[in-house]
Amino acid sequence: MAIDPLEFHSESVRALSTELEGCSLTEVLQWVWDKFGERAAVGTSFQGAGLVMLHHAVQAGIALPVFTLDTGVLFRETLELKERLEAFWGIQIERVEPQLSLERQASELGSELWKHRPDTCCQVRKVEPLQRKLKDLSVWITGVRREQSQTRQQTRILELYVFDPLLERHILKLNPMVAWSREAVWEYLHKHGIPYNPLHDRGYRSIGCEPCTRPSGNGDGERAGRWTGFEKTECGIHTFLGAGI
Ligand code: ADX
Ligand code: SF4
Repeated sequence: MAIDPLEFHSESVRALSTELEGCSLTEVLQWVWDKFGERAAVGTSFQGAGLVMLHHAVQAGIALPVFTLDTGVLFRETLELKERLEAFWGIQIERVEPQLSLERQASELGSELWKHRPDTCCQVRKVEPLQRKLKDLSVWITGVRREQSQTRQQTRILELYVFDPLLERHILKLNPMVAWSREAVWEYLHKHGIPYNPLHDRGYRSIGCEPCTRPSGNGDGERAGRWTGFEKTECGIHTFLGAGI
């Protein structure tokens, strides 16, 4: 049973966040591990920042659980990377899947839903599975970086959200990579020989589901190439909680 981080309120979380800004990445991970153990977990899509974070955790013997939202339409290269990383670090990465199979989604909501109603598709294949997973956690750890987009520029290392207003349940979101630049991430990955998604070498800057991800030019924004042709810039996993408190 998950324990609500009730001892936290917005002021104490803001103060803690400021304190954590001054800590090294390993110190931040050690703090959350010591405090929450397996009630904290890393969610990763195997992009650069997540890999840097996991490498620091493994090196320090911090055994935080790791999960990935497997939408069923990830690139073959991404699924292969998951296995390569499990072997490289000697860890297991949990696959969290949607309740609706792709076949049922097609028959109940329409085929190739991502082409017609990407918000609904993301809700079914990413947001609902994440919400289900978060019910077991007190802390969700992400690889979000401020540099990634306009909407992420104000992200704090530690944020408190109301997860379930009816149950008055809260959840902490820990973003230990907020201050890392894209360059620093890639320098670290290369220096330590960490396996990464080969699609990055083929012009993909940000990698999500195959039907909604395109290669993009070097001068483009960090998350260019996602949902080309739609106004959409977020899948919903970083917005469904609303504003932090
Ligand atoms: S996105 O979902 O909004 O496109 P992005 O690709 O920028 O997210 O990644 C930001 C962070 O969101 C990742 O570092 C990771 O913590 C989390 N995330 C994104 N996609 C997944 C996924 N498929 N499974 C688990 N976590 C994810
Ligand atoms: Fe569906 Fe595309 Fe969202 Fe993936 S990114 S869940 S395929 S709409």
